[in-house]
Amino acid sequence: MSKAIEVEDLVKVYRNGTRAVDGISFSVDEKEIFGFLGPNGAGKSTTIKTLVGLIRATSGTLRLRGVDIHRHPGEIKRQTGYASQETAVDDRLTGWENITLQGHYYHLPSKEIAQRSEEVLKIFDIYERRKDLADSYSGGMLKRIDIALALIHRPAVLFLDEPTLGLDVQTRTMIWSYIDKLRKEYGMTIFITTHYMEEADALCDRVAIIDHGRIQALDRPGVLKQQIGGDIITVRFSASNDGAIPALIEAIQGLTNIKEVGPAQDGIYRIIAVRNGDQLIPKIVELGEQHAVATESIRLRRPSLDDVYLKFTGREMRDEEGSREKIGKNRRTQRRLNR
Ligand SMILES: Nc1ncnc2c1ncn2[C@@H]1O[C@H](COP(=O)(O)OP(=O)(O)O)[C@@H](O)[C@H]1O
Ligand SMILES: [Mg+2]
Repeated sequence: MSKAIEVEDLVKVYRNGTRAVDGISFSVDEKEIFGFLGPNGAGKSTTIKTLVGLIRATSGTLRLRGVDIHRHPGEIKRQTGYASQETAVDDRLTGWENITLQGHYYHLPSKEIAQRSEEVLKIFDIYERRKDLADSYSGGMLKRIDIALALIHRPAVLFLDEPTLGLDVQTRTMIWSYIDKLRKEYGMTIFITTHYMEEADALCDRVAIIDHGRIQALDRPGVLKQQIGGDIITVRFSASNDGAIPALIEAIQGLTNIKEVGPAQDGIYRIIAVRNGDQLIPKIVELGEQHAVATESIRLRRPSLDDVYLKFTGREMRDEEGSREKIGKNRRTQRRLNR
């Protein structure tokens, strides 16, 4: 069976010379939820736009369910659904009007439009509110209807570009469960870009970390986390004898099962253990005492996808907060998404 998506050596150079995508290759299986993670400007949206046929690749081969994307644009349009980073919902229309309009855009017969509109609005729990103006919908409802719009023609592959950007945690979690439902009930393949690592971890079968237009890592979240190490210990030592700290760090590095020791931030050290981090904790405290350095706090956790992201992009997710992308082109919609 052919793959849902196959990308070989995709390059996209915009007219102004920006090399947004710099030679990436990957494939996505049927019914897979595949995550594309990376900082702003990494090339995520550009990749999606070439895959749905909105922009033309500079070079490379792109196939969707075995069909060449450049040669058969009509077929690609039928097989794919796309919810862009900007919401496509018109808030002067009702939910029902928004969705049926989309059906007409795909030239579906009227009867089918009515059936499918009802179906997708029910999946996303908007059916009861279908006669209300979209203007009255919450941010979470707007995003749900936005995804519903991409489903009216029953695509086999759904592309979601930052579907939860700017939404609060509860709404985000709710959107994940809807996405998961699409895969379970319709066997849909889902390609999703996101900034949120915990989202990718919870939802995606595999993730690719992309930066500067290149794929830096690609695997199942569990495998990527395992590659970081077994346990992460974060420790804060008292600064009162900080002259002794370099020797102390060196002593910690000499313990068995230590993979890496480095400063994290504000006097906190990050120790990556190969395994058995819990057993290392008393030893680290004891070494501190031997060097006359008090341990103020010490904490053990499992590596998260954030650690993976940090390793491959050199950036913490929170560095991104200040430079969040714009959510919507429609100002009223934007305001509501921020609510
Ligand atoms: N239409 C365009 N013309 C020129 N440069 C663009 C255009 N769209 C995006 N870019 C640039 O391409 C790079 C990748 O952008 P994009 O694919 O939107 O990244 P992401 O979605 O990961 O934030 C960025 O440097 C961005 O400024
Ligand atoms: Mg983007």
